[in-house]
Amino acid sequence: MIIAIDGPAAAGKGTLARRVAEALGYAYLDTGSLYRATAKKVLDQQIDPDDEQGCTVVALNLTPTDLKVAGLRSEEVGQAASKVSAIPGVRSALLRFQRDFAANPPDGKTGAVLDGRDIGTVVCPDADIKFFVTASTEVRAERRFKELREAGEDVIYARVLEEMRERDERDTNRAVAPLKPAEDATVIDTSGLDADQVFEQAREIVAAKQA
Ligand code: CDP
Repeated sequence: MIIAIDGPAAAGKGTLARRVAEALGYAYLDTGSLYRATAKKVLDQQIDPDDEQGCTVVALNLTPTDLKVAGLRSEEVGQAASKVSAIPGVRSALLRFQRDFAANPPDGKTGAVLDGRDIGTVVCPDADIKFFVTASTEVRAERRFKELREAGEDVIYARVLEEMRERDERDTNRAVAPLKPAEDATVIDTSGLDADQVFEQAREIVAAKQA
């Protein structure tokens, strides 16, 4: 069983994906962490995020340890991730790992939940269940603002909102694997919902599918 959860930044994909995976005993992959880890190495090695060749080499050589380094969730890394993820070589370097995870979930699990931007459209177009989780830009910026503040980053709301718009624009308009709902995805707008309510909606859809 493969469950694909896509959507824009801070829409609540990660929270939902983690809870669904836990409830069903499935493996969970945050595919954004692969792009964030690539971006962090690109920044640390002072490679230009526009250097397609250089970024692709970094993505090809990514190791599991790179996914665990501190600082992956910062806004700076998020912006750089959105730039390097538009490079076709970077995307294809990370594709095999994602498909392999979905087809052979680790630890003998019988299913996988993947969240990202292109899981239902490109990585796992045959996923059994697809969700597209979204929310208004303002609500998402507010959530990201709180998350960054709680992590100790000195951010201002207006700037977070502006960066959110920039990132949405880049993720939606890139030529390869742009952010968009798969035709067969169930859209959940989380603007007025808390995490429990979102989980409840998803749970009903999963239960109906399993029945
Ligand atoms: O947590 P947040 O939603 O802010 O972002 P993320 O899921 O960690 O992803 C960071 C960036 O990686 C996104 O802005 C996308 O540009 C890119 N990404 C992607 O292109 N494809 C994916 N499957 C996941 C992330």
